[in-house]
Amino acid sequence: MAPDIPTVVLTGVWVMLPAYVPNSVAVVVGGGPPIDGGRLWHGTRLLGDGKTWRGFLGGTVAGAGVAVGLNVLRPSVSAALPSFPVSVVIALPLGAMLGDAAGSFVKRRTGRERGARFPLVDQFSFVCGALLLSVLLAPSWTFETFTPPVLLVALALTPLLHRGTNGLAYYLGLKDVPW
Ligand code: CTP
Ligand code: MG
Repeated sequence: MAPDIPTVVLTGVWVMLPAYVPNSVAVVVGGGPPIDGGRLWHGTRLLGDGKTWRGFLGGTVAGAGVAVGLNVLRPSVSAALPSFPVSVVIALPLGAMLGDAAGSFVKRRTGRERGARFPLVDQFSFVCGALLLSVLLAPSWTFETFTPPVLLVALALTPLLHRGTNGLAYYLGLKDVPW
């Protein structure tokens, strides 16, 4: 039996929360030494001052905490929702933060300053990173969970959530630009 639409939407949000949360947490806890240590590559920063160890580690730990929290909540929400095995608890947030850093790498290589806008890369680098690391560390879980409809929901929600949370961070004064 095919799952109904509300279940698919809820599943899409559920499985992506451990990947979405790290970005928002990185904005709040970020700062301090940059991951690239200020190093240049062909004259421009490797990643830039927007990618810090504190943001990276804080975001990853927070996302893993969210996944564990969802595992605890699952029985009282819906048995139709997937639970996260340990490999995925790590893969989704870590992959998100790695993907986000890879996005900054691409932005620097294409001459974009820290904080400059790069449509699609800004919104999807962390999702791609999360999915990629999840496929690598937990292939069967990933393919069973991210059915085409769930994947579609996850991808469609990404720009909305990204806009929403970054807009909020901007109005709270945590970010200089609303993207
Ligand atoms: N942040 C951080 N460490 C990370 C990711 C994010 O400290 N690994 C913090 C930084 O303060 C960053 C903010 O979160 O400025 C917003 O993240 P993001 O939009 O990804 O960075 P940008 O500053 O826009 O830099 P870039 O152009 O490299 O994306
Ligand atoms: Mg940005």
